Amino acid sequence: MRIDIISVAPNLLESPFNHSIIKRAQEKGLAKIVIHDLRKYGLGNYKQIDDTQFGGGAGMVLMIEPISNCIKDLQAEREYDEIIYMTPDAKTLNQSTANTLSLKENILILTGHYKGVDQRIRDKFITKEISIGDYVLTGGELAAAVLVDAVVRLIPGVIGDEQSALTDSFQDNLLSPPVYTRPADFDGMKVPDVLLSGNFPKIEDWRSEKAYERTQQIRPDLLDNE
Ligand code: ADE
Repeated sequence: MRIDIISVAPNLLESPFNHSIIKRAQEKGLAKIVIHDLRKYGLGNYKQIDDTQFGGGAGMVLMIEPISNCIKDLQAEREYDEIIYMTPDAKTLNQSTANTLSLKENILILTGHYKGVDQRIRDKFITKEISIGDYVLTGGELAAAVLVDAVVRLIPGVIGDEQSALTDSFQDNLLSPPVYTRPADFDGMKVPDVLLSGNFPKIEDWRSEKAYERTQQIRPDLLDNE
């Protein structure tokens, strides 16, 4: 999968993809992540990329021309399955969206800043808008990093132990059950006997039960969607 990201703060995106699983996915050739500096498409000597809002109001708006020119240059190179805009005023990212995106060939992500982008960019180019939660970040870069991380780890072959991605929280609309490792007894806090029993069908039943219990306690809304 190839992921292009357009940003006004490309430095913010240098580090998140250079570690562990996401780094290895790129080394294995399963993902290619390319960051594009919107400033290069800025207008005039000052490389202007933003302007005040029509109608007044605080905050600058990212202008049409730099973004449009950047997207068109990228589209001349390849066809995108999705052009995604990261913004708080959109549907919230969930595991199902991450699963769907992980099967795409080419995706382009536009990150906003300030008051966001001119609405006409959204109307003309954007095929999907994604928020990572009901709070406002200073820009869409960290949101894009979250999206890319959630998607890339699901690309077939990225996680060695396939089971591991399939048993994550949310994969079946349930939170994950508790997990334990050695020692079996820490200051009298014991690991549940069933996990030491070697009875795998029973362990699976226990895990399902705990996942359900945890979901009911913490995120009952997930059970309503079934
Ligand atoms: N940009 C600013 N806040 C955001 C959010 N919550 N999700 C996605 N993009 C954003």
